[in-house]
Amino acid sequence: MVARSLSVLLCLLSMALAPFAHAQMVGVELARAKNCLSCHQVDKKVVGPAMTVIAQRFAGGQEGAQNYLAQTIRNGGRGRWGPVPMPAQPQVSPADAQLLAAWILSLADTGPETQAKE
Ligand code: HEC
Repeated sequence: MVARSLSVLLCLLSMALAPFAHAQMVGVELARAKNCLSCHQVDKKVVGPAMTVIAQRFAGGQEGAQNYLAQTIRNGGRGRWGPVPMPAQPQVSPADAQLLAAWILSLADTGPETQAKE
């Protein structure tokens, strides 16, 4: 039973992987283009928290997580991660903010931290 669902999973995974890799690229490129990477890195704290760590805080499909993140990306935020506030990013369109938020959330199960914790 387990083996069977596992092979189904693997099959789905291999089908899903190609577009997934593409989405990852788009996310990083968008983050670079919007200047997010001057303060954030995918897996390392710089000025702002690592994207994978943000993803983990919101992992588990909390309702509205993507909308919430899209909003904080555009409006900035303070006091949730440390003493340094994040300035608003008005150059990011609402649609791009949604893309970035979805990308960040997608990092939750690929980061090395998640694997180390389990
Ligand atoms: C000037 C530095 C800076 C830039 C540029 C920046 N951030 Fe941030 N970001 C921060 C800091 C600092 C925090 C932590 C703020 C806090 O403690 O609430 C943060 C927090 C976040 C959070 C978590 C919000 C929350 O409520 O938990 C997300 C998501 C995020 N940034 C995404 C982005 C994206 C996407 C971009 C590019 C459009 C971006 N950031 C650009 C510094 C920056």
